[in-house]
Amino acid sequence: MLYQIRSYLQFLTKATNQHGVHSPYVYDLITNCFYDKKKYPEYQQIHAYRKQLLNDRTPFKVTDFGKGSTVFKSDERVVASVAKHVGISAKRQRLLFRLSRYLKPENSLELGTSLGLATIAMALGNKSSSVLTVEGCPNTAAIAVRQFESHRLDNIRSHTCTFDTFFSENASEVYHLVFVDGHHSKEYTLQYFEQLLKRITSNSILIFDDIYWSPGMTEAWEEIKAHPTVRVSIDTFTWGLVFFRKEQQKEHFYIRL
Ligand SMILES: C[S@@+](CC[C@H](N)C(=O)[O-])C[C@H]1O[C@@H](n2cnc3c(N)ncnc32)[C@H](O)[C@@H]1O
Repeated sequence: MLYQIRSYLQFLTKATNQHGVHSPYVYDLITNCFYDKKKYPEYQQIHAYRKQLLNDRTPFKVTDFGKGSTVFKSDERVVASVAKHVGISAKRQRLLFRLSRYLKPENSLELGTSLGLATIAMALGNKSSSVLTVEGCPNTAAIAVRQFESHRLDNIRSHTCTFDTFFSENASEVYHLVFVDGHHSKEYTLQYFEQLLKRITSNSILIFDDIYWSPGMTEAWEEIKAHPTVRVSIDTFTWGLVFFRKEQQKEHFYIRL
């Protein structure tokens, strides 16, 4: 926690809004997507999906693939607590919706479905895209799939397997928007980044969650930024976004949300 507070204070000293940005591509993204204040009708469905989960007291058992939980002491969970403590925030859901809407990815990928809060945001953002989401815990994935069906989100494909299995069995598909929200450790984040590099185009965008979760996650983020194929990075503190557009000069941005 102390590490995150210190990192946030450092972030604030570097962060700007769109006015500190000279790249037209990044300026447009920040102005018309990050800071887009329109109240999209889909926000109601995103809100309803979240509310259903927060009202659901059903207990279930999880298989933990991540870094372990600082909130839960056993593998017994209640749907509402997972939605509250593990899922992305309502604000991030809306941002992910806008990113999917703005970027219009043909194929999106999420590593770490949990209960599907991010998945539905990506799926609603571009209904003609295909959103593939991967979750290792079968009980968690089953709850997410039930939710996708009840919300008639037909553009979501759910894979229940580990990320390693997913990568070894899915070598050829290319993804345009990727949300990496699974095992929050340096080693695994870098492994997933290497795997993803084989499955992207120069127009793809990768989003890494919780880049200041631990010193290791920040080191992974710094290595990703420095990778020769990465042209632009945007650090929003909670998320790190990387872009591969060859026409851009290498540049790193710190943007307040
Ligand atoms: C932080 S949660 C994801 C939250 C979700 N993206 C959302 O929008 O609310 C991370 C999820 O990734 C899954 N996970 C972590 N490491 C994994 C791995 N190596 N293989 C498969 N699933 C994994 C966990 O079971 C957990 O449900």
